Amino acid sequence: MQKLIDKVAIVTGAAQGIGAAFARGLAAEGAKIVIADVGDGTATANEIVRSNGAAIYVKTDVSNPDDVKAMVARTIAEFGSVDILVNNAALFAKLGAKKFQDISSAEFDSVMAINVRGPFECAKAVAPIMKANGGGKIVNIASSTVFKGVPNLLHYVSSKGAIVAMTRCLARELGDDGINVNAIAPGLTMSDGVLGQPDYTPEYIQANMNGRALRRKQIPADLVGAMVFLCSSDSDFMTGQTMAVDGGNVMH
Ligand SMILES: NC(=O)c1ccc[n+]([C@@H]2O[C@H](COP(=O)([O-])OP(=O)(O)OC[C@H]3O[C@@H](n4cnc5c(N)ncnc54)[C@H](O)[C@@H]3O)[C@@H](O)[C@H]2O)c1
Repeated sequence: MQKLIDKVAIVTGAAQGIGAAFARGLAAEGAKIVIADVGDGTATANEIVRSNGAAIYVKTDVSNPDDVKAMVARTIAEFGSVDILVNNAALFAKLGAKKFQDISSAEFDSVMAINVRGPFECAKAVAPIMKANGGGKIVNIASSTVFKGVPNLLHYVSSKGAIVAMTRCLARELGDDGINVNAIAPGLTMSDGVLGQPDYTPEYIQANMNGRALRRKQIPADLVGAMVFLCSSDSDFMTGQTMAVDGGNVMH
């Protein structure tokens, strides 16, 4: 039986990569999907509709509060409510590897604006709706890099550390409203972003795999089961947690 029948889910950054896999996976469980992405999410939305699902694409920059408010208003107009928010959009692979001394202040700020303030803006915009509904599910996407302190990506890893902290703070503030807030920390995943970034050489990917208990490449579909679990009533007594889904690389 489908676990998310008629639930309305906003998935940010779902035009491609891991977010698109989340959108497809939640739709397969019966959820109506809003793809909120600064890039074109039409193809992902059309694919879901062709599979007899419900999906719309709303162009959204998660770091722009007006965009986020408009996207949530469009969600209500189209589907009537918001039950699930997946904060997946982030700057990641395109950042490339660089020593922290070589990260400019402007780049640091843009990573924080999208990766940290974006999820904050989205949570702020949906919380009143979820409160009025008597509950909801927020799932933030962190990263296993937080638990390893991966070098040459300081701004990114710091932003994902903030996501772990934000998940805990939101869980505390929203528990009385029946809203669960959890996070998934993926390992290095063969998303569109990673596949398009030459820094992720076969040697780098192999070295990462060697650190896993399950030594194979991680693909976006590997994350979908955990996402469905955190969006469904199966996880109703779980909040404030960060689940590492990385083939047993980090263990915490
Ligand atoms: N791929 C990995 O190895 C990996 C590992 C750990 C965590 N993650 C996290 O998983 C998530 C997805 O990563 P991915 O590898 O699929 O990325 P990706 O680069 O393939 O896709 C990211 C999507 O986010 C969108 N986006 C970027 N900035 C945005 C903004 N301001 N507003 C709205 N949308 C925006 C992009 O247009 C794109 O569609 C990210 O949060 C990333 O940090 C990825």
